[in-house]
Amino acid sequence: MRALTWHGIEDVRVAEVPDPTIQLPTDAIIRVTSTAICGSDLHLYRVLAPYLTQGDVLGHETMGVVEEIGSEVTRLKVGDRVVVPFVIACGECWMCERKRFAQCETTQDREQGTGAALFGYTSMYGAVPGGQAERLRVPFADVGPIVVGSEHPDERYLYLSDILPTAYQALEYADVPDGGTLGVVGLGPVGQLVVRLAVRRGIRVVGSDPEPERRALAVEWGAVAVDVDDAVQAMRDASDGRGPDAVVEAVGMEAHGNPAAAVAIGLASRLPKSVAQAAIEHGGIDRLSALMTAIDAVRRGGTVSISGVYGGVADPMPLRIMFDKGIAMRMGQCDVRRWIDDLLPIVEEEGDVLGLEQLATHRLPLDAAPEAYRTFQRKEDGCIKVVLKPELRPA
Ligand SMILES: NC(=O)c1ccc[n+]([C@@H]2O[C@H](COP(=O)([O-])OP(=O)(O)OC[C@H]3O[C@@H](n4cnc5c(N)ncnc54)[C@H](O)[C@@H]3O)[C@@H](O)[C@H]2O)c1
Ligand SMILES: [Zn+2]
Ligand SMILES: [Zn+2]
Repeated sequence: MRALTWHGIEDVRVAEVPDPTIQLPTDAIIRVTSTAICGSDLHLYRVLAPYLTQGDVLGHETMGVVEEIGSEVTRLKVGDRVVVPFVIACGECWMCERKRFAQCETTQDREQGTGAALFGYTSMYGAVPGGQAERLRVPFADVGPIVVGSEHPDERYLYLSDILPTAYQALEYADVPDGGTLGVVGLGPVGQLVVRLAVRRGIRVVGSDPEPERRALAVEWGAVAVDVDDAVQAMRDASDGRGPDAVVEAVGMEAHGNPAAAVAIGLASRLPKSVAQAAIEHGGIDRLSALMTAIDAVRRGGTVSISGVYGGVADPMPLRIMFDKGIAMRMGQCDVRRWIDDLLPIVEEEGDVLGLEQLATHRLPLDAAPEAYRTFQRKEDGCIKVVLKPELRPA
């Protein structure tokens, strides 16, 4: 089959790879109909290169049709239309029982000291081949996949795989009181969905992003949106000078605005593998400017809810300020399945109330993926979200 494979820093290629097969009786194989590129893929594209191996298949936002099931799969049948959560969980362990699927004790990588295995997310997270491909092997197929109906196009459901539950979790963690205010740092696909979910709840939202198009989209959905340097002031202005009750950080380790860390990232990703991994794990590679904005803006006693992915350990944090302001912080990979029962009815509401069918600015054949990664990374051509369709033929 054809799949998007990683070859080096900012070098991904569509190549022929072996078809996935059922390896365990709890597996399923799906034929991929839509698979999106995520902001998290951009970290793999560059900064996290030391964790990748040539030929790794990327992708973790996938949906399609069940083609084959293992002998112990009972909840799915061949022909079902499914969305596949990016987190691979067993459904039965101590963590899964508590709905902390992203911490699953069965699939977590103890050698790496990381949480549940993730599709297409490198040796750090189980080295499981991803879904930017014609087919995907889904482990624990009775646990993750969400069976959906046929009445709406793929894009209505696709984001249940990751960014929609991620945005929902960010908002749940933010715990904004009635009549409250929320700051959203970063208006990429995740930030946009946080805005839409929050406005729906009657929350006042102020977002920030360097990209004018992304700000304009957030404004269309009812937020105030400002450039990075104006973020803290605008968030305070919207909350009687106090700062928002909570701030969601939806940017992550590659935030703009910290040139020194940008250089460190560039260097770390080019070192030999073992040295580079050590540099990432023990050195400061994260660009913290977005997180610092969140900490600065949030009111005393408020919550910073981090969706953005971070990678280093030694980055200095303003602990005095965090302590003095009495800030609560919540963060982590999304427990996807935990939020699906809340989200599915919203997704299926008449009239596409979250604008999911319009979020993708680019719908392309799988073969266009390398170009699409570049366009999404550089935010060119009005690119906000890319959906790859393996069944589309190149023009
Ligand atoms: N926790 C999870 O489970 C989970 C799931 C999905 C994505 N993520 C992470 O969420 C983050 C956002 O993902 P996305 O798909 O929206 O990606 P994205 O890269 O498109 O969005 C990031 C946005 O932040 C903006 N930005 C950069 N620097 C900024 C700054 N200093 N202040 C304000 N905005 C700034 C960028 O212009 C961009 O619009 C990424 O770090 C991604 O890895 C986490
Ligand atoms: Zn993602
Ligand atoms: Zn588990």
